[in-house]
Amino acid sequence: MPKKDVDLKHVAQNVGHSSRATCGACHFNGGGGDAIKHADMSRQLLTPDRNCDIHMGGYDFDCAECHKTRNHQIAGKSSSVPVAEGVVSCEKCHSDTPHYSGGLLDHHLNDHSRTLACNVCHAPVFAKCKPTKTWWDWSKAGDKNREVKKDKYGQPDYNWKKGEFKWEESGVPDYTWYAGYMDRVLMGDKVDLNADVINLTNPVGSIHDPLSKITAFKIMKGIQAVDADHDYILVPHLFPKDKDDATAFWKHRDWEKAFQAGMKEVGLPYSGAYKWKETWMYWRVNHEVMPAEMALSCVQCHESLKGDQTCNRCHQDNRDIDFKAIAHKGTDFSYMKSMGRDVDHLIEKTDYINFKALGYKGDPIIHGGRFKKLPMGYKAPAD
Ligand code: HEC
Ligand code: HEC
Ligand code: HEC
Ligand code: HEC
Ligand code: HEC
Ligand code: HEC
Repeated sequence: MPKKDVDLKHVAQNVGHSSRATCGACHFNGGGGDAIKHADMSRQLLTPDRNCDIHMGGYDFDCAECHKTRNHQIAGKSSSVPVAEGVVSCEKCHSDTPHYSGGLLDHHLNDHSRTLACNVCHAPVFAKCKPTKTWWDWSKAGDKNREVKKDKYGQPDYNWKKGEFKWEESGVPDYTWYAGYMDRVLMGDKVDLNADVINLTNPVGSIHDPLSKITAFKIMKGIQAVDADHDYILVPHLFPKDKDDATAFWKHRDWEKAFQAGMKEVGLPYSGAYKWKETWMYWRVNHEVMPAEMALSCVQCHESLKGDQTCNRCHQDNRDIDFKAIAHKGTDFSYMKSMGRDVDHLIEKTDYINFKALGYKGDPIIHGGRFKKLPMGYKAPAD
């Protein structure tokens, strides 16, 4: 429904190929501003550095290079409410055995791809080129007198229209099992008011499912209102329709009126009682792939490879091969630090993946992986 002042003839005469700018006009602003909800998409992608996104920066990909489009059906499944016009996957272009450099890591890297989504290693931090919002507390909105402070990235901690915020730059993703499906809360769905957290999107997957992979997510956390009797998320009316609109929150800062009007608009009853609840939303990290030489190294996940014993825990030593160097080959967070990124705490980190939280007994090099028992009669020390 275009506005009346849009010249449709001019628009029709200017149809052409899409660009990062055309798709980004909407997608860089998800959540109401640059990089707010999508940690891995921002205006940085208009002219990205190679280190920000190897495909769009290093090789100048347009969005549609990956999001293949026919008859206006744009491939690519979102984390929230997909309309499913096809999927895009790294494997479609790279195959599921993408490592072929001829180096000594190829074998294990391809083997890992059965259990780890590519971006776990290839996009080890999200929002590395621009901070993203990770906490959004709507319950604090409405205070026009509150002093707005800037965080270390120069981002505001408050906006009277929207509430309280936290931001992260170069954040470590949350890792969880994912088989390509999400549990979702849609408008009007019952939620559990007694739960500490309501997951609006929740990845489905398990260590016991061979098709599930450990996958990287940014979790968008926040506080939102739930109808205390009907147990569903409330939809507030925020933005005034015109100057006479008397029910919009941004006009009068009265949640009660905003919920009445919002719920009327979406056609669901509002009981008149509401509660603020913590909500989480899982957003998969799909973009910002780093150059190959900046993928996670073996030691960043396997503490067991950090010491003097590395590959030679299982392989025979060979004086022509420096196992230690190979096990450390990968992301150089000290380089990122020198470029001004907030990654100090990641240098020397060896617990990128919390194996126990994911259902392993501990480091799989000691305790074995899910597909096979440990090789070569290696006996795990009793723990
Ligand atoms: C006019 C605004 C707008 C433009 C321009 C736009 N999109 Fe979207 N796109 C949306 C909205 C809104 C959604 C739904 C968001 C949601 O479900 O959270 C969406 C959803 C998507 C999805 C997920 C679809 C699914 O089934 O889950 C993909 C992928 C996508 N867009 C890619 C693109 C690409 C690539 C371009 C450029 C060729 C583009 N979009 C241009 C607004 C836009
Ligand atoms: C190198 C390939 C690649 C490029 C280039 C790319 N994407 Fe994607 N994008 C993906 C993959 C893979 C997914 C996951 C889709 C799926 O599972 O079907 C994805 C997912 C998405 C989603 C859904 C995100 C979510 O989780 O809700 C949107 C929206 C999207 N891309 C928009 C864009 C836009 C806009 C651009 C250009 C600025 C772009 N993409 C460029 C690979 C790419
Ligand atoms: C539309 C096809 C396509 C998709 C989808 C795609 N890539 Fe690529 N990718 C390429 C091409 C082409 C290159 C450049 C040539 C090469 O290195 O193979 C490349 C390069 C790379 C490189 C090497 C970069 C370097 O030069 O250091 C990595 C790593 C990579 N891709 C990972 C991924 C990951 C992870 C995904 C999914 C999030 C993905 N790719 C999705 C086509 C794709
Ligand atoms: C366990 C971590 C890990 C996983 C999982 C992983 N990669 Fe890699 N990848 C690496 C490392 C490390 C390198 C650099 C290898 C080297 O320098 O020998 C690399 C290199 C590459 C390259 C450059 C070509 C080459 O052979 O060096 C591409 C392309 C690539 N990966 C794509 C992918 C795709 C696509 C997936 C998912 C199917 C994936 N990777 C999964 C760590 C990983
Ligand atoms: C992102 C974290 C991560 C990185 C990086 C990583 N691994 Fe692993 N590794 C895992 C996980 C998870 C498993 C368990 C896989 C399974 O369940 O099959 C594993 C299992 C293993 C196993 C043995 C278990 C088995 O069942 O075979 C070996 C050996 C191993 N990794 C070596 C390496 C080497 C060598 C590298 C560097 C090329 C590396 N890993 C990089 C996470 C990682
Ligand atoms: C926990 C034991 C373990 C560790 C640690 C380990 N590997 Fe392996 N590796 C294996 C096993 C077992 C195989 C045989 C194939 C398989 O089962 O995956 C193998 C296979 C290989 C192969 C393929 C050999 C062939 O003939 O195709 C290469 C190359 C390799 N490993 C290199 C390395 C390097 C380099 C490291 C250190 C960065 C390393 N491995 C660490 C157990 C290990």
